[in-house]
Amino acid sequence: MKKVNKLDKAKKLKLSSQKWLLRQMNDEYTKKAKNEGLRSRAAYKIIEIDEKFKIFKKNKIIVDLGSAPGGWSQYAVKKVGDNNVVAIDLLEMPELSGVNFLQMDFLKEDAHEIIINQLKQIPYNKYGKCDVVMSDMAANTSGDRRTDHLRIIGIVEDSLNLAVKILKKDGCFIAKIFQGGSSEDLVKNLKTCFKNVKYFKPNSSRKDSSETYLIANGFIS
Ligand SMILES: C[S@@+](CC[C@H](N)C(=O)[O-])C[C@H]1O[C@@H](n2cnc3c(N)ncnc32)[C@H](O)[C@@H]1O
Repeated sequence: MKKVNKLDKAKKLKLSSQKWLLRQMNDEYTKKAKNEGLRSRAAYKIIEIDEKFKIFKKNKIIVDLGSAPGGWSQYAVKKVGDNNVVAIDLLEMPELSGVNFLQMDFLKEDAHEIIINQLKQIPYNKYGKCDVVMSDMAANTSGDRRTDHLRIIGIVEDSLNLAVKILKKDGCFIAKIFQGGSSEDLVKNLKTCFKNVKYFKPNSSRKDSSETYLIANGFIS
């Protein structure tokens, strides 16, 4: 049987998908992630965030929004320990030991309630609280920067609505955004409930992307 390699597969895709696949194949972080057994190149973004802001510590409870294929959860569970990570994604995520995964749309009406109920299953956590809410969620990019920006702002606002319900005092909120005009209103909003709010663009985030991360520390409950 003829072996189909990634290049053969790429030739059958649309031009934009071909370009994406070829760029992925040649990307240094993608290669590194493969060699180091990490589930995604995105894992390096949370590693860099943690190196800078020192967020993940033993026994902390984490909610990972938009977790598939699992690079962030894989890193988090190693740092905080088994059964302290609740991960959510629209897509399936291959099983990850010590992580409780829920496949669902975070934007659906009862998503917050389902997450809170899952958090209550963690021993000594009967109120369904957590220390970190992190979101790497993004809708598929449209190619139009303004549309992508507005869509992600909506997702981050919904993630923040959850975060203020479930974070413990001094908890942390991390969210991916695409930069644009509405970011400043979001930052203002974050500053009303967190002591420190910073933008951080990891080296592993592509230079040509408007992607950056908001890191809000010290939740004022
Ligand atoms: C960049 S990927 C996350 C990569 C992940 N942090 C990792 O390290 O493997 C973004 C994810 O967000 C998910 N996502 C986007 N919108 C979502 C929604 N409304 N509900 C749940 N997941 C969503 C996508 O399915 C996708 O898997």
